[in-house]
Amino acid sequence: MLPFKSLISSHQLTPDIVATLFQSAQKMQSAIESKGRIKTLDNAIVALLFFEPSSRTMLSFQSAAQRLNAGTIFAQNASSTSFEKGESLEDLIRIVAGYSDIIVMRHARPGSAQIAADCSDVPFINAGDGGNEHPTQALIDAFTIEKHLGRLHNLKIIFGFDSLQSRSIHSLTRLLSQYPNNEFTFMGPSELAPPPAMLNELTAAGVSCKVIEGLPESLEYDVVYVNRLQEERFADKRIFEKHRALFRLNHEQVSATKALILDPLPRIDEIDIAVDSLPNAVYFQQASYGVPVRMALLALMLGR
Ligand code: NCD
Repeated sequence: MLPFKSLISSHQLTPDIVATLFQSAQKMQSAIESKGRIKTLDNAIVALLFFEPSSRTMLSFQSAAQRLNAGTIFAQNASSTSFEKGESLEDLIRIVAGYSDIIVMRHARPGSAQIAADCSDVPFINAGDGGNEHPTQALIDAFTIEKHLGRLHNLKIIFGFDSLQSRSIHSLTRLLSQYPNNEFTFMGPSELAPPPAMLNELTAAGVSCKVIEGLPESLEYDVVYVNRLQEERFADKRIFEKHRALFRLNHEQVSATKALILDPLPRIDEIDIAVDSLPNAVYFQQASYGVPVRMALLALMLGR
């Protein structure tokens, strides 16, 4: 059982909770590998509301639910729901809460996850609210780091290339800021540097933060975490077009470092495909951890 009914932000993911979730995720991973049948969520219904595009998050939540023997109900875009007729998010959530045992929602509006959770009678999981937060991605990222490096403290991590708008970067930095001695560098175009409020928050939590323009010569870090420029969130698309081709990790840069290369994906321009074959390119494995981590979360949030 977890001490919250709804997961909205990585703020809630304290080291104790993360440890509990990862212990369970490890067991889920072993159960998946041994092809055992897991009936933890027998008779439960997981509602998946995805009002913004998604592949990994939606499918891994669905896979996680089904591996736990739960049923799933879906709404995949606003035009297929009564939003199209003018229904409010609040009303829709009240209705879906009556049809399910837990709601997972992705929505384009920052802050929508809290609004939805507040009117839901059942537990609620934020699967991305605009450019704000994506706490379950942060769990997957941290699970990958812990599996490879054995720790979530004492890490030197460089993030790019859109720290302003990437909810994955926002949520992972928030989660890791709760562990001691982490140092973050943010790289990318100056227009896409992290929001000042985020830097203040991280610094207040004791993280040493540095912001650099462009890509550094050497990638001597423990982790290099990149995410595509968030095209759909640019008010001025010219800024996206100007930078998209300039920020890409290539084979030469990545083969010169031992750093773990992570990307929540989808990959657009930010990593050359030649990097995929390098041993430190672990982003596809990272994506595969979406299932055991989300199984653990669903099971523990439903108290099973
Ligand atoms: C991320 C997202 O949706 O924020 N993707 C994901 O969930 N794996 C990152 C992205 O879209 O760039």
